[in-house]
Amino acid sequence: MALWGGRFKAGSSELFKAFNDSLPFDHILVQQDIQGSIGWSKAICQAGVLTQSEQEQLEQALIDLSAKVAKGDIDVTQSSAEDVHSWVEAALTEQLGDIARKLHTGRSRNDQVATDLRLWSREQVDILIDALDKVQQQLLTLAENNQEHILPGYTHLQRAQPIRFAHWCLAYVEMFKRDASRLVDARARMNQCPLGSGALAGTTYPIDRHQLAQSLGFDSPCVNSLDAVSDRDFVLDILFSASTSMMHLSRFAEDLIFFNSGEANFITLGDQVTSGSSLMPQKKNPDALELIRGKCGRVYGALQSLLVTLKGLPMAYNKDLQEDKEGLFEAVEQWHTCLLMSGEVINSIELNSARCQKAAREGYANATELADYLVSKGVPFRTAHEISGEIVLYALNQEEPIESLRLDELQQFSPLIEQDVYPILELEYLVDKRNILGGTGKAPVGEIIHKYRHNLGAA
Ligand code: ARG
Repeated sequence: MALWGGRFKAGSSELFKAFNDSLPFDHILVQQDIQGSIGWSKAICQAGVLTQSEQEQLEQALIDLSAKVAKGDIDVTQSSAEDVHSWVEAALTEQLGDIARKLHTGRSRNDQVATDLRLWSREQVDILIDALDKVQQQLLTLAENNQEHILPGYTHLQRAQPIRFAHWCLAYVEMFKRDASRLVDARARMNQCPLGSGALAGTTYPIDRHQLAQSLGFDSPCVNSLDAVSDRDFVLDILFSASTSMMHLSRFAEDLIFFNSGEANFITLGDQVTSGSSLMPQKKNPDALELIRGKCGRVYGALQSLLVTLKGLPMAYNKDLQEDKEGLFEAVEQWHTCLLMSGEVINSIELNSARCQKAAREGYANATELADYLVSKGVPFRTAHEISGEIVLYALNQEEPIESLRLDELQQFSPLIEQDVYPILELEYLVDKRNILGGTGKAPVGEIIHKYRHNLGAA
């Protein structure tokens, strides 16, 4: 039974009904619709629309309905109701008759759906913040267990300067921290209650909107009814947060795919998160990471799609807004799953530390150090740069790192080079010289791990 039959002579066409109905996807909001309805029943009771006893019966029936749905005793999707709001009302009416038909007094599905979706979004934001925190913890554990390991750092995908593997882990911790803080901001903005806005102009009943907002856990009521029923900025906020975080996850995946490649061979991914080839028996492919990288596209798609849907919509509610849900549900689910999947990948990583060290050495990253050494012996920097470059060329021809050249070989390029050059050419020396906040040295890296581990706040 539709909620609006009175004015119509004919029923909907089959095609229109299927096209218009949202129950197949908005059934996800059933618990929020029940929660909002309980809040609304209290508000209209206080406004004199329901008696105390009617409100109590409605509330109890809504609580029972919620429990049945949660237990799986009722399948919300098995109904011809138009949307989740009609479904809840129909289920209540079946049980309570006319009392249930009073619940919609002063309310519209426009303020109802806006409220339901905010309640749902708020819950999901909390779940996502937890998931982001968990990935950070998993990365901190990985960093903590591998503090000694050094690998090449890259710019332009060319070996640039050696870094601690833990420093690489911490870079992603920073990104996931920002992702979580973006959600905290979004949560604060979305936590206003549209209910009481009616269809568009506000309700005529003397509802205490402050109390209603509070009873549903909102910070305050939305202050403009037109805006309240048509605003979907909060969905965009989540989709933008999801897109940015998926971009981070995708970069993270890409780095690990490269680290795991035969060419780099810096890490080994666990069997649990890789798969084989049906043709090539030797293959072990990083599918989990490739899918994380790949699913980023869908999430960007959801953001783009809603931005386009909202553009140019006239005030206030339009049915176009029903298109806000599927993309949001999909994006949140994919993001959450990718966070969980990343955690499993992180837990499965083993470092091939000998290979990392070798690659870090092969990059001639200590050439700058050698130039600085010559400067310390009184050579002008330009000349020192030139000499160091010549030594790199010689070492390249020998297929050796600089520090493996004998002293007499080095002295061919400058007699000022002495035995004391060797310690400064060592990888650890190079890395730990970056002994500054934000640097890759052992001390600052260890300090950040400690701070974040013990929740001591940002450095
Ligand atoms: N299913 C609708 C949506 O998701 C609910 C609001 C319907 N409002 C209306 N006036 N038809 O947006």
